Amino acid sequence: MRKIILICSTFVLITGSVVAAERPMAPNGIVCFPDYLSWKVIAPSYRMDKNQIRIITGNEIAVAALRAGKKPLPDGSVLAKIAWKATKHPFFPAATVPGMFAQVEFMVKDAKKYKSTGGWGFARFVGNTLKPYGKDATFVKECFGCHIPVASNDYLFTKIVKAP
Ligand code: HEC
Repeated sequence: MRKIILICSTFVLITGSVVAAERPMAPNGIVCFPDYLSWKVIAPSYRMDKNQIRIITGNEIAVAALRAGKKPLPDGSVLAKIAWKATKHPFFPAATVPGMFAQVEFMVKDAKKYKSTGGWGFARFVGNTLKPYGKDATFVKECFGCHIPVASNDYLFTKIVKAP
């Protein structure tokens, strides 16, 4: 019985690490989270210049803090921004809907580890192959640089949507 338990747990360990290894990794070591599309909705957004429809989602820790209005967000919070090319609905052209997948981006909170970038680790994965963005870890300067204007909102542009 003990042997079986040992074999089972070893199997879980091995398969677990295989799954993790399959996900692409950004140059700063952040691995693409597998479940971002099933996280809770923070808000949708539309960017005119890029003609992209996005959804911003968050893991449990992030969403609980945002709902409670707690800022800065606690360590362990992760936000994802998922973007698709905006396209007209083929049967109803007045409706703009998501077309081809463009990219997914993450902001991972760890106040100590990412102290130099406001406590946030940044990562972007592009296209259906989820190609990690950035030649080396300095790509985060670009991300952080554009998020600085919203420093007073814990470097987040998006506010959680409310509905009755
Ligand atoms: C030119 C400005 C700019 C750059 C560069 C930029 N962002 Fe953002 N980011 C925004 C704006 C504006 C939003 C608000 C939502 C939207 O654009 O759809 C946003 C939203 C986000 C969000 C959702 C949380 C929030 O703040 O609203 C994440 C996650 C994110 N960006 C990650 C990244 C990552 C990772 C990079 C670098 C690879 C990056 N961003 C680079 C402007 C920028």
